[in-house]
Amino acid sequence: MRIRPANPEDADWLDDCFAVGMGWPKPAGHFQRVLEQQAAGRLLLLLALDGDAYLGHCKLVWSPGYPGFHERGIPEIQDLNVIRSRRRQGVASRLLDAAEARIVKQSRLAGIGFGLYADYGAAQRLYILRGYVPDGHGLHYANEPLPPGAKCTVDDNLALYLVKQLR
Ligand SMILES: CC(C)(COP(=O)(O)OP(=O)(O)OC[C@H]1O[C@@H](n2cnc3c(N)ncnc32)[C@H](O)[C@@H]1OP(=O)(O)O)[C@@H](O)C(=O)NCCC(=O)NCCS
Repeated sequence: MRIRPANPEDADWLDDCFAVGMGWPKPAGHFQRVLEQQAAGRLLLLLALDGDAYLGHCKLVWSPGYPGFHERGIPEIQDLNVIRSRRRQGVASRLLDAAEARIVKQSRLAGIGFGLYADYGAAQRLYILRGYVPDGHGLHYANEPLPPGAKCTVDDNLALYLVKQLR
């Protein structure tokens, strides 16, 4: 297994690999837009490969939208995904190793977030076992803090954010 940054010419190939490997497609042109953001210096898209076969990816976003990271200058690891057939083989751990190795050159903290429902159960366990701890700002919905008594829909906008001390 190897990890490398994505290239502009990977975009269409990634759209196809993701749809096949995960069993659902990202919106058309998703990776093209991600790679345009990479070209603008806003993020780094890391790929996990077995030979030339796609295993998964994550994004490393230098100035994320979540205010708790943005205001503290904490880069965020986003969109970590591993194809279904290669889970529990250490692929996500290798992607996180590579992302953290890049982040530590610029920041003593790495940020990450997860959703609160069971589909995120694997990520919740993985991040906490790797040393990510809640950032202390509670639950957020679409990047807005939820005060006590707030009612919300449990969907992908409901998230808890965590940080890891890298040095
Ligand atoms: C979360 C995800 C990226 C993990 O990828 P992975 O390559 O299977 O993870 P790893 O093999 O590196 O797992 C490392 C450790 O995390 C924990 N873990 C990972 N998946 C787990 C699961 N399904 N149940 C319980 N623990 C799990 C285990 O401790 C595991 O170590 P072990 O296998 O030695 O017990 C993958 O399940 C996935 O793509 N899920 C769907 C997308 C998603 O939820 N992304 C996260 C968005 S926040």
